[in-house]
Amino acid sequence: MNPKSCDLYPKLQNLSIEDTDLSEITAVAIPVVNDAQIKVIENNLVRSLINLTKLDFKVELSKWTEFSGKAGEIIEIPLASGNLSRIYLVGIGAQNSDDIRKASTALGRKVKNTDTQLLVYLTSDSKLITVAATALVLSNYQFSLKTEQKDKKPTFILYGNFLEEVEKADILASAVWQARDLIHTPSNIKNPQWLAKQATSLVSSAKSSSLSIAVKSGNTIKDFGGLNAVGNSSPNPGPRLIEVCYAPKGSVNWPHVVLVGKGITFDTGGVSLKRPYESMVGMKSDMAGAAAVLVATVAMARIKPKVKVTALLMTAENSLSATSQRPSDVIKQFGGTTVEVLNTDAEGRLVLADGLAYADLKLDPDYLVDLATLTGAATLGLGRQHAAMYTRNKSLAKKFTEIGEKIGERVWHMPLVDDYTPALESDVADINHLADKFDFSAGSITAALFLENFVGKRNWIHLDIAGTGRSETDSGENIKGGTGFGSRLLIEWLETF
Ligand code: BES
Ligand code: MN
Ligand code: ZN
Repeated sequence: MNPKSCDLYPKLQNLSIEDTDLSEITAVAIPVVNDAQIKVIENNLVRSLINLTKLDFKVELSKWTEFSGKAGEIIEIPLASGNLSRIYLVGIGAQNSDDIRKASTALGRKVKNTDTQLLVYLTSDSKLITVAATALVLSNYQFSLKTEQKDKKPTFILYGNFLEEVEKADILASAVWQARDLIHTPSNIKNPQWLAKQATSLVSSAKSSSLSIAVKSGNTIKDFGGLNAVGNSSPNPGPRLIEVCYAPKGSVNWPHVVLVGKGITFDTGGVSLKRPYESMVGMKSDMAGAAAVLVATVAMARIKPKVKVTALLMTAENSLSATSQRPSDVIKQFGGTTVEVLNTDAEGRLVLADGLAYADLKLDPDYLVDLATLTGAATLGLGRQHAAMYTRNKSLAKKFTEIGEKIGERVWHMPLVDDYTPALESDVADINHLADKFDFSAGSITAALFLENFVGKRNWIHLDIAGTGRSETDSGENIKGGTGFGSRLLIEWLETF
């Protein structure tokens, strides 16, 4: 059984302003602003529409007294004759990236599951075209294992000379789409071996000599004590270390970025079983970090930045069985650090610690980045709009914050509070994997402090995406479930090299 949601990936095209053939177009979207008065922004396209339809948009707008031009408000004008059957007047608010994104997702949802050929003119600002096109596509995401599959999908035709911007949107949107497919796949299908197979096929369909993949299991990863302690709870098939590399010819001396992703294909909590049990239902998405680092690395084949990228997908199932680890076990992480495991539900940091230590000791990264749906605590503090970001490197933090704002995957710089480190002391091992002393509460911070033990002196940044990785509602660019958060953030950051 393989999900087919990719078939619903909308077609994304560009119509240059010299091209006046609108015969295939079935709907057109044009922008409305509220600058002292509510009005359509005119350009050649709008003027030819007026010619064609004899509509007076001023009159049309005046019929809708509650319409204020706010981003996402839409007036739908049906037309009686010819191919062209709809005009959408779309409020674009302040015309910034947030509002263009809002307007685009509202418009995208209007034509979801239809075969509309939609000509979209919402902005002529080249910087916002990518935002608009990406949002149009993502608002159409769906995942279905129903026997009756929907098969209609719209075509979004961005108006203006923006080939490059539309291509970039396709890179971003298809990466997020792929990540969402992996995250939405239920865990009776999705185990570490299945993820390895998906990663292999994503790498091979990129058809690029710059990309390579290695899947490691069994004896080859015997020194990865965290990955094994967690993953051997589900011995069949056990944990996998999936290594994806982007290293074009001549890249030997380029900077090297290692991305580590938490890839728990299902998190029951293990022997420390999750309670209340309902909190377990969303845990097929506990591999969202691994999904993001994978699709971002694969996207490098199209972005072609001057940076080497290694993605480490730490994949394992955290299951409840006779081979599960026990609270009070002591394990040895990659590199030799011994760790006392107090609660088997804090499994993410154990698989990440191996990945971080392996990167530090073996891969000589210039930057070390990890993404993980790590703690419920991150969501308690920050909600679902911001990922908790930890790093001691202020300029790196600034860069991620700015990029996040721009593309709508926001991060918030959190403190690594040294005063809390004593809470990780263990009586029997080098360290505890969680803070069981002193009631410091700061669950997301202490998890980050634990991880910091494994990054050596590297430039390290940790993103706790427990809140942003899932959406509780259908809204904006998201549907309920996995969001693919981090994919775009990483792609945009890596592009800056
Ligand atoms: N995967 C969970 C974190 C999580 C919770 C992600 C909710 C998304 C939504 C993680 O493995 C976990 O169970 N963390 C524990 C840590 C605790 C036992 C120290 C948590 O946050 O409760
Ligand atoms: Mn857990
Ligand atoms: Zn988990």
